[in-house]
Amino acid sequence: MRKKVTVVGAGNVGANCGLRIAEKELADVVLVDVIEGVPQGKGLDLAQSGPIQGYDVSLTGANDYEPTAGSDIAIITAGFPRKPGMSRDDLLMANYEVVRAATEQIVKYSPNCILIVVTNPLDAMAQAAYRVSKFSKNRVIGMAGVLDSARFRTFIAQELQVSVDNVTAVVMGGHGDTMVPVVRLSNVAGIPLNELMDQATIDRIVNRTRNGGAEIVKYLKTGSAYYAPSAAAVEMAESILRDKKKVLPCAAYLEGEYGIDGLFVGVPVKLGARGIEQIYQVKLTAEENAMLQKSAAAVQELIHVMKSKS
Ligand code: LAC
Repeated sequence: MRKKVTVVGAGNVGANCGLRIAEKELADVVLVDVIEGVPQGKGLDLAQSGPIQGYDVSLTGANDYEPTAGSDIAIITAGFPRKPGMSRDDLLMANYEVVRAATEQIVKYSPNCILIVVTNPLDAMAQAAYRVSKFSKNRVIGMAGVLDSARFRTFIAQELQVSVDNVTAVVMGGHGDTMVPVVRLSNVAGIPLNELMDQATIDRIVNRTRNGGAEIVKYLKTGSAYYAPSAAAVEMAESILRDKKKVLPCAAYLEGEYGIDGLFVGVPVKLGARGIEQIYQVKLTAEENAMLQKSAAAVQELIHVMKSKS
């Protein structure tokens, strides 16, 4: 059976998800967007790249969800992007409505799918999709750890002038300013980071990682990043569709892991055909744990706001 992925939101993140899925021939793609013509036009344009690029999947667009029926995965990217000076949290209520409406429709047409949530503020939107879908927790996953650790890896590789292939980096916590780049677990070909860089350099890179999204918003002015976010979402989708069981940092619904209960927070998970197949509980130092708890508290605050206003 051919695999099928719905991508909600035909903006820059969504369209690039479609392109990356096609280029890897992972699945047929249906782009959905509320703006008339845009998903259809981008779908057609993407399909017409196939003969040149050598991919052979169906790429279509729609303004309704009927064509999405029977999807294996739905990637939710729809929402308002950040403008300069705007925090991810400013987006909270506007994007809650977008994610709620999209989730209801996805569930109606693809009751057995796995949801990958990309819309910001990421962890809160994953929680919204989880509540609205009533899916089991293994089938609702938030994106950002893969993106944040890719940024961390890029900065480490640039600093040391080594291949990014050799750089492993772990970022846990929420996708916000309180995210937790775990330096102790990050390395270059197994060599611990603190043997390769002094503390000031590490601190600078950690800070740049935490502000990685804002740095790009500042350059682009009218929107936020999309090449790396779409690459991150598609790496997750690929691990699920091909049952690769990659271990990736993702926002997962925690029920007691790391002492956090009833909240989506970024932690290392195993992604396979059943979605989140395992949550890894890494032993953290007291300092790392304090940072993770602080990050979880920031996510919790958003959930309170969302619950009180919705
Ligand atoms: C970023 C935004 C999309 O991190 O959250 O680039």
